[in-house]
Amino acid sequence: LSVFTLTLVGCGGGDGTKTKAKDEKIIIKFSHVVAESTPKGQAALKFKQLVEEKSGGKMEVQVFPSSQLCGDKEELEALQANNVQLIAPSVTKLVGFVPAFQLVDMPFLFASDQAAYNFYDGPFGQKLMRSLEPKGMLGLAWWPNGAKHFTNSKRPLKTPEDFKGLKFRTQSGGLLDAQFKALGAGSQTLAFAEVYQALQNGTVDGQENTFNNIDTQKYVEVQKYLTVSSHGRLDYVVLTNTKFWNSLTPEQQQLISDCMKEATAYERQLADELNNKSKEKIKASGKVEIYELTESDRAAFIKALEPVYKEYTDKIGKEYIDAARASK
Ligand code: LMR
Repeated sequence: LSVFTLTLVGCGGGDGTKTKAKDEKIIIKFSHVVAESTPKGQAALKFKQLVEEKSGGKMEVQVFPSSQLCGDKEELEALQANNVQLIAPSVTKLVGFVPAFQLVDMPFLFASDQAAYNFYDGPFGQKLMRSLEPKGMLGLAWWPNGAKHFTNSKRPLKTPEDFKGLKFRTQSGGLLDAQFKALGAGSQTLAFAEVYQALQNGTVDGQENTFNNIDTQKYVEVQKYLTVSSHGRLDYVVLTNTKFWNSLTPEQQQLISDCMKEATAYERQLADELNNKSKEKIKASGKVEIYELTESDRAAFIKALEPVYKEYTDKIGKEYIDAARASK
């Protein structure tokens, strides 16, 4: 009984393909992998509140944080099966579907947060967001988190040479492997829910993430050094199941779109706020030694990471890279 039953409850469970009776309450399951106290976690709750309020209780949004319902890989499968109706994965996890999503990982590509936001809201970002429709997933919004920074347990990382022989966790996709390879380091893809333990038991020496994820996942407990590098980004797209979406009336779609717009503005404001707060909190904790890359350090990293541009510009699409670079 139990093995089979277990695979049917939780992430894989439900009856996503069932058609609804006319006035049945619409239940929207929103699964994500981070803590509630993150920009994504808070914006998901904001969206819930707005939808439930504006629909007068005719729609209910159930939010499942911290991989409680589905982990990284499972949430994509669950969305495609319509067992959950909303997810907001880091776009790096979508590169298996659309390689161009890897542009967030291109080292030192965007000039600023605002440059990234403008790219996402412009024609290339919008095209990218819609590129998953053939896979049954409809993009509703870009929810940026922010710049990534390196942490590790072995030594301060000030120059590309310092990475030699270390092993880092990656989210997904070949570009991040290429990034660490160019720095002389190894890498291993691990689901977000597995990272803390992998850092603790030394399966990997380090990882890269936003200040807020580093803080809320308590990586400082199991890492000794943090390099403020802003070498890449970690951003999300909110995705829904296309069939689910098409089963809604135009009015219901409009209500969801309006609430999503409001939640998105909230998420972006929080991203900035919470990452800054987490940075200060990490500093104040005294648990990790912090090094901020100088301009000349950055130049050395940009040089060392040239092979990543050589290998991935065509895979991502030169027009995307050029547009991202030109974004202000
Ligand atoms: C990660 O796996 O490091 C991130 O994608 C987690 C997240 O969703 O912020």
